[in-house]
Amino acid sequence: MSSLIIESSGRINMIGEHVDYNGGCVLPGSIDKKIRFKFHKIDGIDCHVKSITLAKEFKFSFEDLSPREVHWENYIIGAVNNLINKKFLNLSTFSCEISSFLPIGAGISSSSSLICGIVKGLIELNDLKLSNNEIVDIVLDVEHNYIGLKGGIMDQFTILNGKKDHLILLKCQNREFKHIPSNLKNFKILLLNTNVEHNLANTAYNERVNECNEALKIINKNADANFNFLCEVPEKILNNNKKFLSKTLFNRASFVIKENLRTIKSAEILENNKLFELGKLMYESHFGLSKLYKVSCEELDFLVDLTRNHHKIIGSRMMGGGFGGCTINLIQDDFIDQFVDESCEIYRRRFGKEATPILAGLDNGISIKKT
Ligand code: GLA
Repeated sequence: MSSLIIESSGRINMIGEHVDYNGGCVLPGSIDKKIRFKFHKIDGIDCHVKSITLAKEFKFSFEDLSPREVHWENYIIGAVNNLINKKFLNLSTFSCEISSFLPIGAGISSSSSLICGIVKGLIELNDLKLSNNEIVDIVLDVEHNYIGLKGGIMDQFTILNGKKDHLILLKCQNREFKHIPSNLKNFKILLLNTNVEHNLANTAYNERVNECNEALKIINKNADANFNFLCEVPEKILNNNKKFLSKTLFNRASFVIKENLRTIKSAEILENNKLFELGKLMYESHFGLSKLYKVSCEELDFLVDLTRNHHKIIGSRMMGGGFGGCTINLIQDDFIDQFVDESCEIYRRRFGKEATPILAGLDNGISIKKT
């Protein structure tokens, strides 16, 4: 193939936050906000990449794929490096034009979407075959080693396997998954972007990953057990080992283990159409993320609190890695306009900045349009 267009989606997560790297269950879905890539094979030794959105471009050759000073270039260079130097694949030189309709830093996975799109595009352009699981591993490796975020598989997996009008119940420990019809009736998924971007978000995120690993090590040692992931630890064993853990590590582990159980319950609830119970679990999830896992911020807590007394909003919580980004709200469709106007006004008065609404429809994840 000599040219093609790829569309790569963002993702929401209904519930199951910070459990993916702990081997737990998540309930995400791919959405109708996307990044579009136009790929062409070209002659010569240089590849050309242009971001229409950032109004920036750069060139590189396959001879030098070392990390760059300019942050966004690493998403592309990292992906190419992985395909050539870790998967030993032959790529043709290419040009790629990128237009993003996914807000950056909003916690809806613009990073994974960008890398997934590049990897998928290059595979198709060069008539190569890789499974979705192999692509997940490549993208994860780029994020760990080129971007510096030691995240789990939720985002990449969702973008590659997402299905219109469905969520995915994914057990991250072994990648077993099933699509669950979203059945939200007259409720919609409304994201409110705090427009807060925490400079040290990657550092704080990686700190949580380390704390979870540390808690698991201590539990295994003292319980003479061999759990591979924190989410495998029964609550009873955690409580029996409380005395060996610092308060911080106990709180982190307690949140993770309970969040995993909430996610499994949420999937059952959705399958049985009991939306109000799902809303209750979303508020519990937010409480844990804010008070025990400590990945929320004042702006996120404020937006969640604004929803509490509206009977047309059944659930709200912070979504994604945290320290900024969006809240996810389940809201009745006839209340959206009024709530957005009111909450954005109150938010502006309180913080002196804008909150941005994003109405998210569940849509297919990544798609290829051959040209
Ligand atoms: C980020 C990471 C994911 C996941 C979420 C929190 O989006 O990329 O792997 O850990 O945070 O649930």
